[in-house]
Amino acid sequence: MYTAVTLFVLMCLTATTYADHHHPCHSPNMTGFMSVMNIKGEVKAYGAFTYDSMGKKLRFRSNESHPVNTSVGLDILMFFDEGVFYEIDSKNKSCEKKALQCTMHPLDIPDDAQLDSTVNYGSPSIEGEGMKLNDWSGSMPGMKAEKGHYSMFVTMGCIPITTFYVTESTSFLISTMEVELEIKDPDLLVVPSICVGQPLEETPEGTVHSFLNEFM
Ligand SMILES: *[C@@H]1O[C@H](CO)[C@@H](O)[C@H](O)[C@H]1NC(C)=O
Ligand SMILES: *[C@@H]1O[C@H](CO)[C@@H](O)[C@H](O)[C@H]1NC(C)=O
Ligand SMILES: *[C@@H]1O[C@H](CO)[C@@H](O)[C@H](O)[C@H]1NC(C)=O
Ligand SMILES: *[C@@H]1O[C@H](CO)[C@@H](O)[C@H](O)[C@H]1NC(C)=O
Repeated sequence: MYTAVTLFVLMCLTATTYADHHHPCHSPNMTGFMSVMNIKGEVKAYGAFTYDSMGKKLRFRSNESHPVNTSVGLDILMFFDEGVFYEIDSKNKSCEKKALQCTMHPLDIPDDAQLDSTVNYGSPSIEGEGMKLNDWSGSMPGMKAEKGHYSMFVTMGCIPITTFYVTESTSFLISTMEVELEIKDPDLLVVPSICVGQPLEETPEGTVHSFLNEFM
């Protein structure tokens, strides 16, 4: 756990830019479903998300009615530009406001990602049976690639389909489904009334809050 946390600190602090003629695209506004699975095959969470790509806001609510057992029940609203997020418990009418130390998340390709390959998955010659995806990846400079690495498979229109986060201690596979290119309910990106005026919680030393951290 501690190594994983340390690793993500490094991943977050070493975001340098490389000059490269392939620049990652930026995802559009999206509404859809997302699943988070770990290397053991446990579905950590499954639920609906809403993403504002310009405002850099993400709401993710894990879906308790989903027939798969998920180990994390979650309702989070993240403001990446402001560096804060809310953990909402609507059943309990409680809300926590926390600082985001790492803004890396599976719906946004980091600016310094490298284009590894473009592959036609399935059959490119049969309508509806194939998909052409770019694989954008990155690792921490100065460290061995296997110590921490992400790989994002993204459509030509910049919809992230699958993202792998691989570290020495754990790995995650995050997939999106049923994506629509609009924000269907803008209210989901507004701070809920139970969260308004909440003080910023102190971050315990050694903790790095990030999207992925919610599933560790
Ligand atoms: C994305 O959604 C935001 C918030 O609703 C809106 O301001 C913005 O114009 C949208 N962007 C596009 C490209 O539709
Ligand atoms: C839960 O998942 C079902 C089936 O995918 C979907 O119809 C429903 O809208 C989801 N509910 C929420 C709150 O996301
Ligand atoms: C969910 O987990 C509980 C407790 O671990 C188990 O009893 C139940 O059978 C599981 N349900 C499904 C659908 O896997
Ligand atoms: C509601 O919040 C209290 C205080 O944070 C917590 O002790 C309790 O477990 C919560 N109940 C539920 C059902 O989440």
